Amino acid sequence: MNQPETLVTLQAAVSAPSYVNNIRLLNWVREVASLTQPDRIHWCDGSPGEYDRLCGELVASGTFLRLNPELRPNSYLARTDPSDVARVEDRTFICSQRREDAGPTNNWMAPAEMRATLEPLFTGSMRGRTMYVIPFSMGPLGSPIAHIGVELSDSAYVAVNMRLMTRMGRAALDALGSDGEFVPCVHTVGAPLQPGQKDVAWPCSRTKYIVHYPETREIWSYGSGYGGNALLGKKCFALRIASTMGRRDGWLAEHMLILGVSRPDGRKYHVAAAFPSACGKTNFAMLIPPPGFDGWRVTTIGDDIAWIKPGADGRLRAINPEAGYFGVAPGTNEQTNPNCMASLRRDVIFTNVALTDDGDVWWEGLTAEPPAHLIDWQGKEWTPEIGRASGAKAAHPNARFTVAATNNPALDPAWDDPAGVPIDAFIFGGRRSTTVPLVTEARNWVEGVYMAATMGSETTAAAFGQQGVVRRDPFAMLPFAGYNMAEYFAHWIRLGERLAAVGARLPRIFTVNWFRKDEAGRFIWPGFGENLRVLAWMLDRIDGLGQGEETAFGITPRYRDLAWSGLDFSEASFRAVTSIDRDAWDAEMRLHDELFAQLAHNLPPELPATRAAISARLGL
Ligand code: OXD
Ligand code: MN
Repeated sequence: MNQPETLVTLQAAVSAPSYVNNIRLLNWVREVASLTQPDRIHWCDGSPGEYDRLCGELVASGTFLRLNPELRPNSYLARTDPSDVARVEDRTFICSQRREDAGPTNNWMAPAEMRATLEPLFTGSMRGRTMYVIPFSMGPLGSPIAHIGVELSDSAYVAVNMRLMTRMGRAALDALGSDGEFVPCVHTVGAPLQPGQKDVAWPCSRTKYIVHYPETREIWSYGSGYGGNALLGKKCFALRIASTMGRRDGWLAEHMLILGVSRPDGRKYHVAAAFPSACGKTNFAMLIPPPGFDGWRVTTIGDDIAWIKPGADGRLRAINPEAGYFGVAPGTNEQTNPNCMASLRRDVIFTNVALTDDGDVWWEGLTAEPPAHLIDWQGKEWTPEIGRASGAKAAHPNARFTVAATNNPALDPAWDDPAGVPIDAFIFGGRRSTTVPLVTEARNWVEGVYMAATMGSETTAAAFGQQGVVRRDPFAMLPFAGYNMAEYFAHWIRLGERLAAVGARLPRIFTVNWFRKDEAGRFIWPGFGENLRVLAWMLDRIDGLGQGEETAFGITPRYRDLAWSGLDFSEASFRAVTSIDRDAWDAEMRLHDELFAQLAHNLPPELPATRAAISARLGL
C-alpha cells in the first residue's frame, strides 16, 4: 500500500479530518478507540463554533447550567458528583520501571502490573459515549520551550475546559506536523452507557487511577472528571511528565506562577513563584499595587505552572504552558483580587460554586454577607440559616473557575511570546501560621534549594484529605514531581552549577510566608496587594540596593528596609511576622531531618551540609 492510501485509510478508520497527517497519532487513536469502544470519535478543531456547540450539548445533558446572560454572558455552572471534587493524590501513580525512580513520596506500581490493572477498566469504558480527540500545545505555538500533547477523553466537559486552558485544536495539530512528537493522554470518566441507558449529569466512577508512565511519557486517567485528574495537560503533563523531560534535557517544569513587575521608571523584572495549591498563586500573579506604589505595575504571565529553559546565554527563560486559569473561587473578591474578578465577568466555566436566584454565581468570601437564598454546589436549597445550623458551605471549598488568560486585564504583553521571559528571582512560599518569617533571601543557590526543599505548608481543600495540617511540600511539588524528589533536588543543584560555570546570571532565591497568625488566630500580614512591599524589597536586592540583615537562614529586611507609605503596619507587627523562635526552629529542623531521612537515597550531600551550617548558626 502506498503512503497516501495508508493515510486515507487510517483517517477514515478514526473519522479524522483530512488535515490530520500524523501517522503515529492516527494509529494511536485507532488503538485507543478499539480498546475503549466509543460510539463516535470527534476531532476537536478548537473553533469558537465548536466550543459553543459542545457547551450547548452539555446544557442539554444537564452537566452545565447556562448562567444569566445579562449578568454573566457566555458562562456556565457545572456541579460535579459530590465524590469527585478534588485531585486524588492517593490514586495518583508514577509507574517507572524501578520503584526508586518514583521515589518514596510518590505512589508506585510496576508498569506491567499497572497496565494489566488498567486494561480491563479501559476495555469498553467509552461505550455509548463520544471520544474527543483534543490536540493541545503546552506553551506558545511553535515555541522552543513548548511541547504538544493529545488527550483522548469521553468527557465534553474536559474538551471545553481544555479549550480555555490550552492552545487547543487544529493549530496544535499544525504545530505537531506529520512527524512531530506528542505526549499521549487517555482519559475516561469510567462510566460506559448501555444502549438506551440515560446518562447522569456528572458521570464518574468510584474507582480512580491517575497514572503516569514517565519512560514512555504516557498518561492514563480513569474514573474522575474533575480538574487536575481529568484536564491532563495541567498537573499530569505540564508537571509530572514534563519534570521527567526536564531532568533528562536540562530544564525545569515547576508549580510556579510567573509575573512581570515594573517600577515607575519602566524597569521591568520577571519573577517565578512556587506556592502549594490554594495558597494564593492566582492572587499574587494578578496583584494590584497598594497605596503608596503609584506607577508600579504587576502583569501576569502565568498563575500555576512554569516551564523554564536556559537560553543561549544560559539565562533561565520561562513560559506559561497553559492558556487559562483553573482557579479556586472561594475567597476571591474585589478586595483580594480585582483583576481576577474582572477576568470572570464573562466566558467562564464555574464548577461547584453556588447559584443565585437571578442565575448568577456566589461563593464564600465573594461578598461580606451571603445572599438570602442560594442553590448550593450540590443543587440543594441553601440559606445563611441552613449554613449556620449545618455548617454546610454554599460553594465547595475547592470550587473553581476556568477562564481564558486573555480575559485577564493584567495579562503581560509577553505572555504568549515563544521566547519566554527572563527570570530574575524565584520565590518559594508555604502557608504557615507560625515559625517561618515573612521573607528571607538565600545567600546562594544551594541555600535557596535547601529552603525550597524543606518548605512546609498547611494542607488545603485542593486535594482530598485532612486540611490544615503541616506537611513538607518541597518546591510546592510534592504531589507533582514525576520522579524521585531527592533527584529532583539534585537536578536543581546541578543545573545551577552548570549555569554558573558558563557565567550565566542565576535568579535570586527567596522564601516568603504571608500566613503568620497572632494568638487569636488572625492573619497578621495584610497580604494581597501589600505583598508588593516585599516584592519591591526583592527587586532592590537584585539591583544591589536593598538592605537587610543576616540571620541563621539567610537575609531578611529590617522594618526600615521595606517601604511603608500607604500602610499602617507597626514595627511590633513586623517583628511578629519576621521573628525567629529558636524552639520553633529546633522543632522545624527535626522535621527537615525527617524529610531528609525519607529521601536519603540519592539525596545531594549539599542539603545535609546546609542543614548542619544552619544548626551551627542557630547554636542548636
Ligand atoms: C491546582 C492545584 O489546581 O494545584 O492548580 O491543585
Ligand atoms: Mn496548582
